[in-house]
Amino acid sequence: MSSQAPTTSESKQEVLDLAARFVCPNRVETFQMLGSPPVMGRREGHYFWDFDGRKLFDVHINGGTFSLGHRNPEIVAALHEAIDRYDVGNHHFASEGRARLAETLARVSPGALRYSVFAASGGEANDIAIKSARWATGRRRIVSLIGSFHGHTGLSLPAGDVENAKLFLSDGAGREFEQVPFNDLAAMRKALAERDVAAVIMETIPATYGFPLPEKDYLSAVKSLCDEYGSLYIADEVQTGLGRTGKMWGVEWYGVEPDILVTGKGLSGGMYPIAAAVLSERAGGWLREKGWGHVSTFGGSEIGCHVALQVLKILERPGVLENVQEMSEYLGEGLLRLQQHHPFLKGIRRCGLVIGLEFDNPLGGVLMSAAGYEVGLWAFFAGFERSVLQFKPGILIERNECDELLLLLEKAICLCEERLEAGVEGPSV
Ligand SMILES: Cc1ncc(COP(=O)(O)O)c(C=O)c1O
Repeated sequence: MSSQAPTTSESKQEVLDLAARFVCPNRVETFQMLGSPPVMGRREGHYFWDFDGRKLFDVHINGGTFSLGHRNPEIVAALHEAIDRYDVGNHHFASEGRARLAETLARVSPGALRYSVFAASGGEANDIAIKSARWATGRRRIVSLIGSFHGHTGLSLPAGDVENAKLFLSDGAGREFEQVPFNDLAAMRKALAERDVAAVIMETIPATYGFPLPEKDYLSAVKSLCDEYGSLYIADEVQTGLGRTGKMWGVEWYGVEPDILVTGKGLSGGMYPIAAAVLSERAGGWLREKGWGHVSTFGGSEIGCHVALQVLKILERPGVLENVQEMSEYLGEGLLRLQQHHPFLKGIRRCGLVIGLEFDNPLGGVLMSAAGYEVGLWAFFAGFERSVLQFKPGILIERNECDELLLLLEKAICLCEERLEAGVEGPSV
């Protein structure tokens, strides 16, 4: 796509040059190719401002990290309070923050989940989930979905992003990790039938695959298969948890009570890293036997716990989850109206404010990311399904902000349609 992005300011170019020299050259190059190399400057609420001053309505929100908005004042205040009182703490000791956060997570989680093991990232929390399932079952194999993403740490990587696992010779020896197609129960049964699978790890609505919605009874049937064959069900709720679907956890829509629930991203309020694997009595059995079976200096830092407690307090406030539902319906109606005028918008996948927009072009999501950047909308395509644009507004969004968002989206769609009609070549990502 020919880049119509305005010229890059000197200060922004300096950051891009430094990032290319000392951080990750390929990432900088890829964003340049897409015509959308943002460098975040000021940030507030639903918006962030590029170093060039461009205001962007953020509906990527880093996978849900900024679900309560950028620098939500209540979260900023909680962080200030925490740093006035605490430091990261000593991970060997019991701590008030960890204890209270674990108790709260157990209370708000579905079913009989009990123990929380804390981490600094979703990938680490998924590693803990997999280790716990292996301990509980005495089995090694892990089954996941083709197109799933669970992080880039030691075990989460081969469980999800197989291509990058291969890059680092980490794709799992023999049949340790297996992937089956989404919504395919027969394939799942076949994978579990030998009774040697420790766990099935499932994103409730696979984000990097473009948020395809599970068929009505699929997830509960997978849980029944797990029970039948003695495997544990790990719900990776890193993107679908914490109210984003209109319930506290996405699995609640599908009647699943997982053995392990993994949360991250938004749990930090976008301010201080924290993630957790919430374990059933059985999955967490090792915690009764081996207190040091898993250790992490920064996992469950006391500052992060304080921030996460404030996040959960906000989510439990009356009206917050209801707002997600209302705004989802409102946006849904607007999206349908847009679709009537723009067949380029081919499909709408929506569960609360977890939304994937499918476009009528194999690179439609990529084209829309670039066009969005030009009109003031920051949305990102789904890495494993590039016809889809991830469209994830913050959960405190209001009606007038939805209207603004729909206008920006329509502008970006028009820009793409014009370019496609003119035969402008898209980026080759
Ligand atoms: C569903 C899901 N699980 C796990 C992760 C990994 O989280 P982190 O990047 O914090 O390790 C991600 C990150 O995008 C994710 O989308």
